[in-house]
Amino acid sequence: MPVTHTLEGPLSVDVLGRQDPELAEILLGELERQSTTLQLIAAENFTSPAVLAALGSPLANKYAEGYPGARHHGGCEIVDVAERMAVERAKALFGADHANVQSHSGSSAVLAAYAALLRPGDTVLAMGLPHGGHLTHGSPANFSGRWFDFVGYGVDPESGLIDHEQVRSLARTHRPKAIVCGSISYPRHIDYAAFREVADEVGAYLIADAAHPIGLVAGGAAPSPVPYADVVCATTHKVLRGPRGGMLLCASELAERVDRAVFPFTQGGAQMHTIAAKAVAFGEAATPAFTAYAHQVVANARVLAQGLAAEGLAVTTGGTDTHLLTVDPAPLGVDGRTARGRLAAAGMVLDTCALPHPDVRGLRLGTAALTTQGMGEAETARIAVLFATALRDESAGRGVREEVRDLTGRFPPYPAQ
Ligand SMILES: Cc1ncc(COP(=O)(O)O)c(C=O)c1O
Repeated sequence: MPVTHTLEGPLSVDVLGRQDPELAEILLGELERQSTTLQLIAAENFTSPAVLAALGSPLANKYAEGYPGARHHGGCEIVDVAERMAVERAKALFGADHANVQSHSGSSAVLAAYAALLRPGDTVLAMGLPHGGHLTHGSPANFSGRWFDFVGYGVDPESGLIDHEQVRSLARTHRPKAIVCGSISYPRHIDYAAFREVADEVGAYLIADAAHPIGLVAGGAAPSPVPYADVVCATTHKVLRGPRGGMLLCASELAERVDRAVFPFTQGGAQMHTIAAKAVAFGEAATPAFTAYAHQVVANARVLAQGLAAEGLAVTTGGTDTHLLTVDPAPLGVDGRTARGRLAAAGMVLDTCALPHPDVRGLRLGTAALTTQGMGEAETARIAVLFATALRDESAGRGVREEVRDLTGRFPPYPAQ
């Protein structure tokens, strides 16, 4: 079809500033916040302008229940091409037989994985929440804890590593219908083969919730769960650097069950602008530049872990294999919550998290965003020093804030074109 329209003029973002300056000011204020503070939240990143363009495109207008070629709405012939493209790119990127790119979020992808494989009341073995499991891994405040019977495995309190003997013994005792591997804060590679072995022994499905490492998998910087898990669920917005959203990967035999679990079981119309943005992100993730990025993310996280350990913080597992690490700031005389406040005042944004030791709140940090900004090992080593300085002495926060402003000024997330 000949294209006669452009995205200039009436569709340019300037229109927001003219029509609704109050809201435009909020968007610019958030851009300013993101550009002048350090984003150390392990689940965040800066998407590319191309991803943002797809998100803000007229595809947002389109209703598209169903799947390409089998929609409940008319006029889907063009968005069908976008969804097929996203699916093919995801399949190629992860070496999967089948991909579903419609999940609105990581949580919806997990819900769909359960819906595809389980019945309410089934027993599921997953990482316990105090050890790094996600809300969807059995929290009583979440659908998962209400509809399924979750049993939690944990990490060894000394090493911080997943206790595979405990996983095996709990699986033998409880005979779960599914085992979930994946975490919000585990800093080491997941041993998918070990989980597969236990799942096979007790006849359970293996669900890999790879929300965090999937971007590293795309860049060849972490092992892939695809050859081992029956279903892989993931987010597209963390290291993978796409739009906020979820996806599922599986073998052909489960494709129909997974698709039906997403639509019509747990979702309605697909968000075509987000799916187009996922396609853009998968395209970006297939490039050598992204492979280099993923490896740099891990190199930076290692330097950060070493630097924080050298400053006296207790680094869980002694380091990291991934983009994230967790630390206990107690040796510097502050608890996790106080630490988060001091760091925020110094321009460093991050989360508190549970640590293997009961009732201790630590800090979770990640290097995905700062690496997208172009920072490398030298900058990350300096960040570790600034981090500890701000923690040790509240009055040093102002000086650290200035240095953070200088650093982020030299590495803007969205450089002026
Ligand atoms: C392991 C894991 N699963 C699921 C999710 C849920 O993703 P979302 O916040 O997009 O629902 C997250 C989010 O951080 C996660 O870390």
